[in-house]
Amino acid sequence: MKETLKKIKETALLELQSPECDTEQLRVRFLGKKGELTAVLRGMGALSPEERPIFGQLANEVRAEIEAALNAKMKEKKERALSEQLNREKLDVTMPGMPIRMGHQHPLTRVQREMENIFIGMGFQIAEGPEVEYDYYNFKALNIPENHPARDTQDTFYITDNILLRSQTSPVQVRVMEKQNPPIRVISPGRVYRSDALDATHSPLFQQMEGLVVDKGITMSDLKGTLETFAKKLFGESTSIRFRPHHFPFTEPSAEVDVSCFACGGKGCRVCKGEGWIEILGAGMVHPFVLENCGIDPEVYSGFAFGMGIERVAMKHYGIDDIRLFYENDERFLKQF
Ligand code: DAH
Repeated sequence: MKETLKKIKETALLELQSPECDTEQLRVRFLGKKGELTAVLRGMGALSPEERPIFGQLANEVRAEIEAALNAKMKEKKERALSEQLNREKLDVTMPGMPIRMGHQHPLTRVQREMENIFIGMGFQIAEGPEVEYDYYNFKALNIPENHPARDTQDTFYITDNILLRSQTSPVQVRVMEKQNPPIRVISPGRVYRSDALDATHSPLFQQMEGLVVDKGITMSDLKGTLETFAKKLFGESTSIRFRPHHFPFTEPSAEVDVSCFACGGKGCRVCKGEGWIEILGAGMVHPFVLENCGIDPEVYSGFAFGMGIERVAMKHYGIDDIRLFYENDERFLKQF
């Protein structure tokens, strides 16, 4: 019996040395319920009472040794597997990363930010208003009553009789004046809508930037100085501006404002269609009725306002001749900016 135990131990330890040995199979074979060691222990009943504890102890020692060797083997296998895995999945943190394709700002956003920054530099704040607007703010409060002919040029999309998609950013003037006491100095960029057919110069959705200044003693020369500074900063120092008389219901007097052509300097070229001037905005002194509608006393305060199309400025700025390009998401176009 002693021999058998010794043999079991030797075989088990020897087999455990083989790198291919299956530890689980080995455990079952030697230590399992039907294993070789268990079989020996079963046979101990045949021993004399004196021999029994001696062999019992010996058998336990053999079991303990095999178990220890098994555990060591299993631990070693695990460690090897882990180190192999770590080797396989080695990560070189110094390797350059996968390049991520970065987009960039849309040309309209670029121009809008540029315009905003110029006005912010002159002390303006940015005000926002809703695109879905009441008729009151878009028209009536701006001195455009029902059936006024100015509504024809700004036909828009109606949600109900009273609610529409704003046709201009001018309603933000009213919203600001209702809430804020002068001095007021705001610009308001945003989307506007008109039921115009889409062509090279018209889009049912486009963007405007409104400006409004209200304070004591504001005059037309403040308007001129502000717009001239803006034009020089946006189009270059040599730019000059020109006011032409016009009519808007919400300003009096009103003007259309041109900038000297930045492509030819005023001589006349393709960009300015031979005019030497490019029309960029409408402006004027805020009509006393509009101030009154907003609870501001026109005897005490005066103000100027202006509004311009951002697409128009961007088109002139970049030499783009079709407004549709801004909204078609064609990468070949967008990548150029
Ligand atoms: N809202 C006008 C338009 O869409 C542009 C405009 C003209 C805005 C004169 C103004 C202004 O604030 O004073 O045609």
